Amino acid sequence: MCGIFCITTKIKKDAPARVLEGLKGLEYRGYDSWGIATLSPDSDSTLIDKETGRLTDVETDLVGDVAIGHTRWATHGGVTKENAHPHTSCDGTIAVVHNGIIDNFQELKEKLLEEGHEFKSETDSEVIPHLLENHDFMTVFNMLSGLNAVIALNKNTKEIWAAKTGSPLVVGFGEDENYLASDASALLPLTKRVYFLHDSEAVRITADSVTLFDLETGNKKEIQTTTLEGDVSDAALIGYDHYLIKEVSEQPSVIRAIIQDGREDIERLARVIKRSYGTFFVGCGTAANAGLAGVYMFSRIARRHVNLATGSEFKYLIDFVTRGSLVIALSQSGETIDTIESVKAAKKNGATIASIVNVPQSTLFRLADTRMLLRAGPEKCVLATKSYMAKLSIMYLLAHELIGEYEKANEFLQEVALEVEDFISGARHEQVKALADKLSDKEDLYLIGRGPSFADALEGALKIKEVTYIHAEGFAGGELKHGSIALIEEGTPVVVFAPYDETYDGIISNAMEVKARGAYVIGISPKNHDVFDEHIKVKDIMHASNLVNIVPMQLLSYYMALNRGCDPDKPRNLAKSVTVR
Ligand code: AGP
Repeated sequence: MCGIFCITTKIKKDAPARVLEGLKGLEYRGYDSWGIATLSPDSDSTLIDKETGRLTDVETDLVGDVAIGHTRWATHGGVTKENAHPHTSCDGTIAVVHNGIIDNFQELKEKLLEEGHEFKSETDSEVIPHLLENHDFMTVFNMLSGLNAVIALNKNTKEIWAAKTGSPLVVGFGEDENYLASDASALLPLTKRVYFLHDSEAVRITADSVTLFDLETGNKKEIQTTTLEGDVSDAALIGYDHYLIKEVSEQPSVIRAIIQDGREDIERLARVIKRSYGTFFVGCGTAANAGLAGVYMFSRIARRHVNLATGSEFKYLIDFVTRGSLVIALSQSGETIDTIESVKAAKKNGATIASIVNVPQSTLFRLADTRMLLRAGPEKCVLATKSYMAKLSIMYLLAHELIGEYEKANEFLQEVALEVEDFISGARHEQVKALADKLSDKEDLYLIGRGPSFADALEGALKIKEVTYIHAEGFAGGELKHGSIALIEEGTPVVVFAPYDETYDGIISNAMEVKARGAYVIGISPKNHDVFDEHIKVKDIMHASNLVNIVPMQLLSYYMALNRGCDPDKPRNLAKSVTVR
């Protein structure tokens, strides 16, 4: 979760200000509080600037040629200035930023307290600078259990050290300066030459050197850098007020990017699927919802059974994963810890791992035997939208490739891209905006769908919940009568996904059932029906209906969020990459 960033430079004394800029590019990882530390020849200790709240419009007076910084998503200890990073040693000479959770921090802290160290925060992270008072960096990092990434700045040695296990960390190489960041995208404005730290590696960096170490042996290792792809402008707002609406609007181009150059990857993945005995999609949140849509697509299109497991639950299902099994990890960031741990457990059982991720060189990308990129470009908004669309497009093509109908499906996706484009840029966009005005002060919203549209109901509900804070729930239409219909009252809004397929009659009956109990029924369907109080027309695109059905819900979430004064890009309590268990 938290974002960490560091610059050490020979060029100018503006490292703290530049670290703040770098942190702004990582803020989607956490935005409860922020902080930076630097060194100055005029001071005996590190200089710290930190505060609660977001980084927007924040400036710093600190100057120095080295700085480390942090943007926090609180785990241990509330959102206070004291709990904001960096944390320091007793005498303030060592400053540390940390991403992750130190599982054994209580034990370490008790010992440090006994030794007389004074703690200023409630965080687990603060044990690190205190331990560094008596031990070298690698020894300290090896004392920590859990999944962690740490950067330490030491006034006494003038060194910066960093290491990781589990949580991501990337080294960037510049001219007369070097960098560290928890995400490669934050380095793009500075350099394209990077090294992705592996687990159990440590690095010592100065403005003109980067030295890599093996944490277990303490030995030096050779560094092989890679070149980042992409452009800074890909991640800029250009003309949009928020990333949410920008990224929703980019969806037609995302589908087209997959149409244009996804074939080779999809053929390779399909070959692996054909060879496997038992395929599992694993993902969290929106990625899990995409997996559910994939389960239906594989069944309907390719007559093939695929299992779905949510990342956080998969470890309890791992016993029957064996050498013949295939686990396909779905993830935008490639850094979601529950998905990573699932993959690692499956790997241990001998399974083959495939990953479909958006971020090149991310942990899930690197852990996989076969991999495919989503080609969605940087997704900055905490809400996953275009990455969902990319996953759906890929699974649609994969299912068709399995039955030798790739070409046909690829051609059909052109039509889907046009429909998505038309929806976003045409009159229906305005219709959804007006609907948002009607729904914004509701307390509850329910969504129902059958078959593949069950995934739409879950994903639509997730979008509403995370950005409007309205209680929203998605149900399989047929399940309502088994209890949840008790929730429907006069005026309760219910979104009904009714593609014109084998689920149509069933879901219309369910719509009638809720209507009879007073629901305000919003139908997302190619056909209008008397039961709908509001009809949002989507084109009949058969087995690809998931791809168009979700667009009205994404737009609705955006406009409802605006009406309710919620930040569309950085909803409360959330972070884009969930890198803690
Ligand atoms: C989606 O809108 C969420 N922010 C969240 O559910 C997300 O999809 C989930 O955390 C998985 O992330 P990943 O795709 O990066 O693995």
